[in-house]
Amino acid sequence: MAEEAVLGYLEKNEEISDSGIFAEEKGISHDEIVNIIKSLNGFRLVDAQDIKRERWVLTHEGDMYAEHGSPEVQLFLAVPPEGTTREELQGKFEPSIYKIGCTQAIKNKWIEMGKSAVSRKVQHVDDRVRDLLVQIQKGEEVSAQDIDALKRRKLISSQIWKGFSVKKGPNYTPKRKKMATDLTREHLQRGDWKEIEFKEYNFLAKGQPTDGGCLHPLLKVKRQIQLIFLQMGFEEMATNNFVESSFWNFDVLFQPQQHPARDSHDTFFLKEPSTTRSLPEDYVERVKQVHESGGYGSRGYGYEWKREEANKNLLRTHTTAVSSRMLYALAQGKFAPKKYYSIDRVFRNEAVDRTHLAEFHQIEGLICDRGLTLGHLIGVLEDFFSRLGMSKLKFKPAYNPYTEPSMEIFSYHEGLQKWVEIGNSGMFRPEMLRPMGLPEDVQVIAWGLSLERPTMILYGIDNIRDLFGHKVDLSLIKRNPICRIGLN
Ligand code: PHE
Repeated sequence: MAEEAVLGYLEKNEEISDSGIFAEEKGISHDEIVNIIKSLNGFRLVDAQDIKRERWVLTHEGDMYAEHGSPEVQLFLAVPPEGTTREELQGKFEPSIYKIGCTQAIKNKWIEMGKSAVSRKVQHVDDRVRDLLVQIQKGEEVSAQDIDALKRRKLISSQIWKGFSVKKGPNYTPKRKKMATDLTREHLQRGDWKEIEFKEYNFLAKGQPTDGGCLHPLLKVKRQIQLIFLQMGFEEMATNNFVESSFWNFDVLFQPQQHPARDSHDTFFLKEPSTTRSLPEDYVERVKQVHESGGYGSRGYGYEWKREEANKNLLRTHTTAVSSRMLYALAQGKFAPKKYYSIDRVFRNEAVDRTHLAEFHQIEGLICDRGLTLGHLIGVLEDFFSRLGMSKLKFKPAYNPYTEPSMEIFSYHEGLQKWVEIGNSGMFRPEMLRPMGLPEDVQVIAWGLSLERPTMILYGIDNIRDLFGHKVDLSLIKRNPICRIGLN
């Protein structure tokens, strides 16, 4: 309707000089007219010029007076011809109306106020303020002097009014044709595709955002760490077996069968299949030996080692289970030095909190060579961690059943201004290596850390459940930045 009104008017007239007046004449809201003018202008059906006008509108207080009269007149009318008292008069009004009314009525010399008596000085008054306010409400002209007085009493305020003047544009037609946006089956059937006009393609329009896959922060950090290992000449170990036997996860690592980590409180054991099918029997025998009575310079643990315990299947609790399989395999051929790494998932039956889940990822590195010492281990750790941007390291003696010596690794965190534990390390014990068949002078240095810890620090995530699991906000995963570590 607004569109017809504008185009129709311009068919017979040169110009719509003021969209405000036009809207009023046609009985259409000005907003609606403005929207149509903007759209027609965009298609050059009309030529629109901005017009701005300052106009006066009533404030809330002005509105009240326009409706109920000015306070001074209200007050004057409340004073009876024979006079009254201040007290009585005051009781009839709200405090603000009373105060303004008194001031103005006295200023106008309409009333006289004594100590207590109030009397009229004139018998009749006109409410000029109200009349002016009503005039402004109607959009009528008011003198500059009156405007000034009302402005000072904060009864009116100025408002910028925006509208348009409109003429025919270069594409003017009295009736806008609806253009087709698509060629449809109906167009073809009816044959009207020959006549209809098609809307031009807008090659600058933004398309729908496309949804694609994206990498999880853990995968990004994993990739960076993988590159560091590769730069240092490490080979990746195959970690594609979450299910492992207790034998490879614990026994070969010289972890006694009574060790608390082997309890179902700490480890997830499998119900089905609950035991492993086969183990290398001669090696099993040597592992049993070393647990029960030692060898290779060790006294062993002096307990009765049970095969059933070693057969139990579990979800691997560390990737050191993978390392032990790899070292055993290495020992079966002619010895050659190796550098191995892995980054994959491990499982622990732990209470879940803001930094722990029942599964996480472990990063593990090991070097197997003749004559390695603790000095080599410290050197390699310094090289590895400095590539991760952690060059201030400290080591603390620790204990693992399978390493001696063992060291916890600490790094100084500049952001947190303190030393934080970042990993665990050590030299594999002869009780672990010799039964495998590795030569006497071969040592293995190794270390492990979680992938989650550095990822949370790098991405500023303080609750692990925001990083991993069903509560993760996918949009955050989609938007997270690329990972840049290991630049030095
Ligand atoms: N397996 C150890 C852990 O789970 C890490 C480790 C790996 C320690 C290699 C020493 C040597 O914490």
